[in-house]
Amino acid sequence: MFEELLREWDGELVAVRYDAPARTWMLVCVHSTVLGPGAGGTRMNVYATPHDALRDGLRLASAMTSKNAAAGLPLGGGKAVLAVPSIPTGQARRELFLRYGDLVESLHGTYWTACDMNTTPRDMDVIGGRCRSVFGKTAEAGGSGSSAFSTADGVFHGICAAVAHAFGSPSLEGRSVLIQGVGAVGRPLAEHLAREGSRLILTDVDEVRAKEAASELGGEVVAPEEAVATACDVFSPCATGGVLSAETIPRLRCRIVAGAANNQLAEPRDAELLHERGILYAPDYVVNAGGIIHLASLELLGEDEAAKDARVRAIADTLTRVFEIAASEGISTGAAADRIVRERLAAGR
Ligand SMILES: NC(=O)c1ccc[n+]([C@@H]2O[C@H](COP(=O)([O-])OP(=O)(O)OC[C@H]3O[C@@H](n4cnc5c(N)ncnc54)[C@H](O)[C@@H]3O)[C@@H](O)[C@H]2O)c1
Repeated sequence: MFEELLREWDGELVAVRYDAPARTWMLVCVHSTVLGPGAGGTRMNVYATPHDALRDGLRLASAMTSKNAAAGLPLGGGKAVLAVPSIPTGQARRELFLRYGDLVESLHGTYWTACDMNTTPRDMDVIGGRCRSVFGKTAEAGGSGSSAFSTADGVFHGICAAVAHAFGSPSLEGRSVLIQGVGAVGRPLAEHLAREGSRLILTDVDEVRAKEAASELGGEVVAPEEAVATACDVFSPCATGGVLSAETIPRLRCRIVAGAANNQLAEPRDAELLHERGILYAPDYVVNAGGIIHLASLELLGEDEAAKDARVRAIADTLTRVFEIAASEGISTGAAADRIVRERLAAGR
């Protein structure tokens, strides 16, 4: 059932294990180790089929290669998916992560894991009981905890760079920013933007969450189904992937797209559609690298907070370079970012 996906993938390896006690497919996808061990989070999710889970893992692992290369980190790209029948809790969850830790350890450091959707620093502590290649454990267990604040910081600096490029000034005063998803990243991003005087427009499928944030920070709430077509200066996808597609791009009423969500483009060619519409797209893997920068800087490179913050701020410089290449050569920002990645990988070979 996996043949076609694996035949078309250009990555290095996939480790597959069916965990019978938890009826869970464990899929560790290592896309590239050219610049270092394949690093990326472990996503736990309920998928319709194992095929869907593998497709998600392969695509996310490829994006991690691009993200880590664009961020200038000594890391390759990887991602793991635990395709569970339902999200486990308590002892069953702990035992699943111990067995998963054994699988990751058996790869001898080829893959480094971290948190992702539905996995937490506490889960990383459990995995770390069996395996050495784990980022993002809790501070008590010797890790640097959640990296969502750094992701939000990076998106904030990326939005500043995009606003500077599009409007000639990095000031966010009065700029309207629509944040889709006010979760672990979207909420601190909203706080940052509010401090800079942006006009917030918030949406979340959890209506209470959106309303609370809007009343605490100031701002308006729009219904999730209205978000794409709401007029704003910056549309910031911070919820799910696949938001930018042939169906949604013609409806966008923004000048900039810059957000945290992974794999925002439904298809790579959607970067060209954004370009044709004159919408400045901050490639997702460039602008949302703050989380992995946090983990690599503090835990792998042994840097301090100030050095980590400087690396996160440098996301703005990388993006500015992407925008300049795209503008001078008349290509999409997606194509410009992909070229920077190809150059870094070629230099690392
Ligand atoms: N946490 C990180 O450090 C990090 C790093 C890189 C990328 N990302 C990506 O950024 C995105 C957000 O991550 P997070 O950690 O904030 O997740 P989260 O689960 O904490 O928050 C996501 C929020 O989006 C809402 N949401 C889900 N579907 C929605 C929809 N269709 N419309 C509006 N709201 C919706 C959820 O209710 C939730 O409030 C994800 O795509 C994640 O993969 C996160």
